[in-house]
Amino acid sequence: MNDFVGKIQELKKKRNAVILVHNYQLPEVQDIADFTGDSLGLSIEASKTKADVIVFCGVYFMAETAKILSPQKTVLIPEPSAGCPLADMISAQQVRDLRVQHPDAKIICYVNTSADVKAECDYCCTSANAVEMLQNAFSDQDKIIFLPDKHLGSYAAHKTGRNVIIWQGYCPSHARILPEHIVALKKEHPAARVMAHPECNAAVLKLADAVLSTSGMLRYARESQAQEFIVATEVGMIYPLKIENPGKRFYEATSLASCPNMKKTTLAKVATSLENMVHEVLLPQDTINRAKRSIGNMIRFRKDAQLTQKEHEETKSLS
Ligand code: 13P
Repeated sequence: MNDFVGKIQELKKKRNAVILVHNYQLPEVQDIADFTGDSLGLSIEASKTKADVIVFCGVYFMAETAKILSPQKTVLIPEPSAGCPLADMISAQQVRDLRVQHPDAKIICYVNTSADVKAECDYCCTSANAVEMLQNAFSDQDKIIFLPDKHLGSYAAHKTGRNVIIWQGYCPSHARILPEHIVALKKEHPAARVMAHPECNAAVLKLADAVLSTSGMLRYARESQAQEFIVATEVGMIYPLKIENPGKRFYEATSLASCPNMKKTTLAKVATSLENMVHEVLLPQDTINRAKRSIGNMIRFRKDAQLTQKEHEETKSLS
């Protein structure tokens, strides 16, 4: 493994590359990152990096987002088959059909969508800012379509009271987290705080003390006085939580919540990617231009609203 680390460091210099890594990636891949984060943090980092090459260790839609934000840069994904079943639950044609059915609606897509889908939408959001986007970018008079994640869409609609038509997609890894898992763990660890990702179903979210993006979980665990946490999201999240908080204890909601696509990227593949400059993410210029509007509306909106990353912690009002 060390051989690969040395080789990656060498190649990174040679290529003037930056390595962006999502919080769910394998521990050894997180360890070689220049930047780890959630979808929002990685998007922002991709938009401002000075590197010539971005190596994106995550799933395909994330690498596409980096390309949209930095089209002049070479964006590499070490494992191009790392997809996202949630993103695959809606196509660009289905968004066009929605426009025909609801010509007066504004469409907001979760970042877990293909570039083609983003190109058809008005706004983009991530798990870190979906509530703020619905709250601040729309009014009560707006008819809003949220896609493709039904749980995030319902959660954000519930928190804001907005009038939202919700596409019925979901993340299969988060769908394996059940309320029974949380109830059993709470019995075992009564002092533990429950952090849940908004891709979890509503019954799980009702049991949560905080509903957070992956980077939001890191912040919450760091700042909380609690010593124990039940973590309702993809299992890869346990690693950065433990690294940042060596004195605290973290319990995965269920070992079943593992995303096979997030585990496909290895150090060997990162090294090969930098050595051979593969696999490059390429998108038609027109798709980039159109998708950039929806992502730009999210990033610009955050700046305009001077939003912090602080999220909607207490979820007791869900019940
Ligand atoms: P975050 O943006 O919270 O890291 O979530 C990304 C994701 O794909 C969750 O399944």
